Amino acid sequence: MTDILIHSCGMDRASQLADLHKESFQEGSWNEEQIHKSLTLATTYAWMAMALSQPVGFILCQVNPPESEILTLCVSPPWRHHSIAAKLLNHATHAQHLMGCDHVFLEVAADNHAALALYTKSGFQQTGRRRHYYTRAHHKVDALLLTLTMTSKT
Ligand SMILES: CC(C)(COP(=O)(O)OP(=O)(O)OC[C@H]1O[C@@H](n2cnc3c(N)ncnc32)[C@H](O)[C@@H]1OP(=O)(O)O)[C@@H](O)C(=O)NCCC(=O)NCCS
Repeated sequence: MTDILIHSCGMDRASQLADLHKESFQEGSWNEEQIHKSLTLATTYAWMAMALSQPVGFILCQVNPPESEILTLCVSPPWRHHSIAAKLLNHATHAQHLMGCDHVFLEVAADNHAALALYTKSGFQQTGRRRHYYTRAHHKVDALLLTLTMTSKT
């Protein structure tokens, strides 16, 4: 198995993060300018996963202790099912806990079964629902609000 390295990254990586986002989301992906702008905020943190010296995934978070929010998370399609998202999530939530956060929030589409399985396995619980939040080609999909509660032992 290839070694996966997780490290924090900044605005200088905006172009690579935008490429990864486009690969994963196509429509509605965030471009380089949007990601760069987000990373100018002192409260925005990004962690990138590297394999064979190439970026293969990232997670972007807004950290306002004692709360934080996962803004986006994606893994390059050829690198999926190698526990990279789980590693990114674990790394980011651990770092947020060290920064003083005890709750991590996120929104996920109710039809995103892969992401829902990942978050549930990582300890997130559903705490809300926004009806018809996402627009698909022919229908609307609810957004589920998920929360991870971190205790001192987390
Ligand atoms: C969701 C996503 C980040 C998962 O990335 P990944 O690196 O393949 O996930 P992991 O290998 O770390 O999987 C960890 C767990 O998540 C779940 N999971 C991941 N992909 C899954 C899939 N396609 N179907 C069902 N469960 C899945 C499993 O429980 C898995 O544990 P297991 O390997 O022991 O079965 C990736 O599919 C992706 O980038 N999707 C498009 C972007 C997206 O939807 N992001 C989330 C927005 S909220």
